[in-house]
Amino acid sequence: MHTFNSGIKVIVVGAGFGGLTAAVECHRQGHNVEIYESFPELKVLGDIISFGSNAGRIFHRWSDGDVVARLRPLCIDIQDYGFRIHKWDTGEVVYHQKRKPPSLEAPVLNGHRGELHQVLFNYARDDLGIPIHLGQRVSEYFEDDSAAGIVLKDGQKVLGDVIIAADGVRSKARELVLGYVDKPKSSGYAVWRAWFSNEDMIADPRTKEFCEHGDTFNGWIGPDVHFLFSTIKGGKDCCWVLTHKDDHDIDESWSFPGKLEEVLQVLKDWDPVCKAIVEKTPSLVDWKLVYRDPLPTWISKKGRISLLGDAAHPFLPTSAQGATQAMEDGVSIAVCLRRAGKDHIPAALETHQEIRYDRVKAVQKTGESTRDLWHKTNWSEVKKNPESIGFPREDWIHQFDTEKNAEETFEDIFRSYVELRTTASFPLVSAQASSTVVQ
Ligand SMILES: Cc1cc2nc3c(=O)[nH]c(=O)nc-3n(C[C@H](O)[C@H](O)[C@H](O)COP(=O)(O)OP(=O)(O)OC[C@H]3O[C@@H](n4cnc5c(N)ncnc54)[C@H](O)[C@@H]3O)c2cc1C
Ligand SMILES: *[C@@H]1O[C@H](CO)[C@@H](O)[C@H](O)[C@H]1NC(C)=O
Repeated sequence: MHTFNSGIKVIVVGAGFGGLTAAVECHRQGHNVEIYESFPELKVLGDIISFGSNAGRIFHRWSDGDVVARLRPLCIDIQDYGFRIHKWDTGEVVYHQKRKPPSLEAPVLNGHRGELHQVLFNYARDDLGIPIHLGQRVSEYFEDDSAAGIVLKDGQKVLGDVIIAADGVRSKARELVLGYVDKPKSSGYAVWRAWFSNEDMIADPRTKEFCEHGDTFNGWIGPDVHFLFSTIKGGKDCCWVLTHKDDHDIDESWSFPGKLEEVLQVLKDWDPVCKAIVEKTPSLVDWKLVYRDPLPTWISKKGRISLLGDAAHPFLPTSAQGATQAMEDGVSIAVCLRRAGKDHIPAALETHQEIRYDRVKAVQKTGESTRDLWHKTNWSEVKKNPESIGFPREDWIHQFDTEKNAEETFEDIFRSYVELRTTASFPLVSAQASSTVVQ
């Protein structure tokens, strides 16, 4: 454990994967960190969530593999089964995508969002002793040249050196940072999603194969629709997501109860196995996907508040990187704060942003490219070249070591920001430095 203390007080808003990771990494890097979260108690919510090996590498460093050991039994194991991609109508397997050999230092961890979230939450609070203040909705943010703070719903103010606003896709902090309300756009798609136990699946001869021999992962690709189905925990739990066109007009990414009849209508000419799976679903959600153009900046004017995770950059689920990129943010910001030190917080945050910005934008794009690959499939091309339809797992995303990268790239970027500030009459936070990122 670290004995180094940076003397930097970090306030994290939000205890999702982004906020929890930022807090754990700030703790690892020797900062004093506390979390403020609006939910009054932890509930196991959601369904499948993916952590790529670039997230696994982060988890692996927490208490030397201890956290991974807690996560792994909750996660899908398709090392043997692989990913089987079917043509939507005939049901034939057009491509059987094999898994890469497992990696101890950078495991892939996909499982129930709520269950994995609980592991992280307990690790941060109970193992590391990070204070997590629940039932505390943050209603305002403020900063000057020497400190930053939050205002809680009851009017209480909390001061720190830096605020990490990991308050999700409907971020309140985003308004403050941008100075205007950034309206989301419809992505033109929605996802129906469900998670349930396997009793009815086992009882049906058409579906029991998915639950009797361990975990499975299958996808059916059709015109402007794709359906992904997995079984987890040795085939005990079943989970599916179906992405389809939906010209909704809502203000934010949000989930509503879904209607089974509508799903079955979409699947009516599909491989009958799809219907056999879906009709056993006890309840589902209809998750509307919104989109945002990349924000011009994640950092407030005086450089002491940074957006992180979904608040800064929402992802489409087809990237399978939303939570992972939120985690990478937390690693990078904690490293930059330690390297810069308490006297250079704004330059630390700007350095963090510069280290992360282009990578995040490039990974965000893969959400669209994978969706388009599947929704506009050229089947004669797939016949000739089956791996062209595989789920892209590019090394530049998955083999990335975000901690190492932040350590290696910090110095040069940081120098340029400090010089910029010094020439603009330090210690006043210069308009010039901000104007490089704030429009
Ligand atoms: C309830 C829920 C269920 C989800 N289910 C899935 C799923 O099934 N599959 C999937 O892929 N992704 C799911 N997501 C999204 C996924 O968790 C995130 O995309 C990803 O992990 C990035 O996390 P984040 O920490 O940036 O944001 P989030 O996970 O959204 O966390 C933001 C946190 O900030 C808190 N917060 C917001 N405003 C305030 C405020 N003013 N004051 C204090 N706290 C505040 C929220 O309560 C929340 O806990 C879900 C998110 C939520 C909140
Ligand atoms: C589909 O793929 C075939 C075979 O590779 C190719 O000849 C054809 O031009 C492609 N069609 C479209 C619309 O791209």
